[in-house]
Amino acid sequence: MPPEEASGAIIALSNVTKRFVTPAGTVVALDSATLSVPAACLVVVLGPSGSGKTTLLNMIGALDTPSDGVIDVAGKRVTDLRGAQRFAYRRNTVTFVFQAFNLFPELTALENVHFGAEAAGRSSPAEVARAMLEAVELGHRLHHFPHELSGGEQQRVAIARSLATGNPVLLADEPTGELDYRTGIQILRLLRQRAGGGKTVLVVTHNREIARMADLVVELRGGRIVGVAPPAGGTLDPAELRW
Ligand SMILES: Nc1ncnc2c1ncn2[C@@H]1O[C@H](COP(=O)(O)OP(=O)(O)O)[C@@H](O)[C@H]1O
Ligand SMILES: [Mg+2]
Repeated sequence: MPPEEASGAIIALSNVTKRFVTPAGTVVALDSATLSVPAACLVVVLGPSGSGKTTLLNMIGALDTPSDGVIDVAGKRVTDLRGAQRFAYRRNTVTFVFQAFNLFPELTALENVHFGAEAAGRSSPAEVARAMLEAVELGHRLHHFPHELSGGEQQRVAIARSLATGNPVLLADEPTGELDYRTGIQILRLLRQRAGGGKTVLVVTHNREIARMADLVVELRGGRIVGVAPPAGGTLDPAELRW
């Protein structure tokens, strides 16, 4: 049994280090990170710009590989996956909640989300797509093209497409980054609901206020994990957050 199953964790990192070698020198983006995340948990990875948040997320999502250490996710040793196995892992296990600019401009909202469901091998992609767009309150915009939607609506289509994969682990890098407050809260509510529905959700942010909706806050400073704890004051509903 892989160690992360023995401990009840769906994501486990053990001494994960990432070094980037550049002409200007070596950057240690992540320094001996060890972390264990229970399933159905909403984790906020909090840290200032440059602290290693995106690096951490990209390695969990197998977009990049560590220089040292091992990562286990949902019973798979991610750091050992090669070629087709890595592809299958990204198809069946992890989903990045992409920003709206990744939508296909020539496909309608419904077709974009349908594509996400189908690419992940869902059995009834059409129904899943419709249900996900309704969940993000876009049931009245199914046949609109991205350029016919507002920025916030496009973002919600992108989220619906990510959720349509049905994968157990969702990774969101600064999901509220370019959104107005109201749309940002709506997106966080959706992610919160997914964790309630059994998905494991990692949200990366520099915004301390967002950490208050987490089950678990992982704090990064200069590539090191300096804290792993539930938010002081308990987990808030996203609607209670203010920024
Ligand atoms: N491809 C890369 N090459 C060199 N340095 C990088 C690369 N990616 C990230 N870094 C460096 O690693 C550190 C962490 O970056 P990143 O994970 O993007 O931080 P964050 O997402 O917290 O802002 C930063 O100092 C950044 O400049
Ligand atoms: Mg980043």
